[in-house]
Amino acid sequence: MTFGRTADLADRVQRLGTETAFAVSAEAAVWREQGHTVYPFHLGDMDLATPPNIVGAALKAIHDGKTGYCPNAGILPLREALAADVGASHGLPYGAENVAVQPGGKPVIGKFVLALMNPGDEVLYPNPGYPIYESQIEFHGGVARPYGYVEGTDNFELDFDALEAQVTPRTKLLVFNNLQNPTGAESSPEELERVAEFVLKHDLVVLCDEAYWDIRYLGASRSLASLPGMDERCVILYTFSKKFAMTGWRLGAAIGPTLIIDVIAMLNVNDESCSNHFVQWGALEGLTGDQSGPRAIIAELRRRRDAAVELLNQVPGVTCFNPESTFYLFPNVTGLMERKGFATYDDLRRAALEETGVSFCTRLHFGRALPGEHEFYIRFAYSGISVDLIREGLGKLKAWAGA
Ligand SMILES: Cc1ncc(COP(=O)(O)O)c(C=O)c1O
Repeated sequence: MTFGRTADLADRVQRLGTETAFAVSAEAAVWREQGHTVYPFHLGDMDLATPPNIVGAALKAIHDGKTGYCPNAGILPLREALAADVGASHGLPYGAENVAVQPGGKPVIGKFVLALMNPGDEVLYPNPGYPIYESQIEFHGGVARPYGYVEGTDNFELDFDALEAQVTPRTKLLVFNNLQNPTGAESSPEELERVAEFVLKHDLVVLCDEAYWDIRYLGASRSLASLPGMDERCVILYTFSKKFAMTGWRLGAAIGPTLIIDVIAMLNVNDESCSNHFVQWGALEGLTGDQSGPRAIIAELRRRRDAAVELLNQVPGVTCFNPESTFYLFPNVTGLMERKGFATYDDLRRAALEETGVSFCTRLHFGRALPGEHEFYIRFAYSGISVDLIREGLGKLKAWAGA
């Protein structure tokens, strides 16, 4: 008997998904290595520096010997600061006991599912959406049921018909990514009320993925968790990745009812013991110290958003909303596909890369296309590319599309 076949692995491995955006990244890297210019719009990573006061606080923590294990749910001052910050922005009386610090926002997804979903339970999740939801639900033996977004007047809106069509008596959880990746959608107060009603009617528990809460250019972010009756059934995914340009530091938190947070903290014990100790002291400085760093990050992202939206709307066959949150754009490219005679997303993506250097993900990197979906969309992330390169790359895309 030899070992080494795929069948030797656990069955659940067959159900484990991935982030295919990383494959687009790898393809773009190969193209660049071959000597071509690449305009990177594919990955939601950031090319901006973490604010120096955060770097300084983390370095100081290392020098001060904060290099051993720390409490499983995170250092108390950070849990308190997160409870105060998120509590204030959400109008909720969170305390440290409502916070379990995590090595990134991403781990909250799997831990939420593990804490609440039994095999066979159904979970509603956004598609197009962050691909890890579907992966974690299916990996842990649940049934992933997608709902989508439709084009409204100014931005994408939740497809309520899809939500209603997908819910069944077996549905236990809703994954709700307000300030949404990839569409940039955000719920109006009316839409949030409708979601809250739906949640109560079907007795659901909700993962409020608010990774982009602080990435906004106008107005204020609103949370489902703030609505009456919601805080006891909502877990908020918080991350330091975006607001503080800390994607590689890996720090986030689950914030919600203690019944669930205690389980998530126990999963911390089992998985990683604790999140990186000295990074937590850096993050504490981020939350409580000088805020000029995050302000500069938002100002730069806004300049990029303005340039990208303006130019994308000049590309023949492309229409693009101007979302006030996230650092993603999700233009409709149905007209471009027709003009260029492309039949598949990959035809468009590869041709654009090879003929203009513009690299992006398509709708299919955010889930399987849903029945009846006829329009084509691609996703532009502007978090890792300067205004000058946005202008240069999208200028080339415009010329190419018009040719
Ligand atoms: C919607 C959404 N949720 C969660 C995350 C997780 O980010 P991180 O693990 O860096 O906190 C991301 C990252 O891109 C995201 O887009």
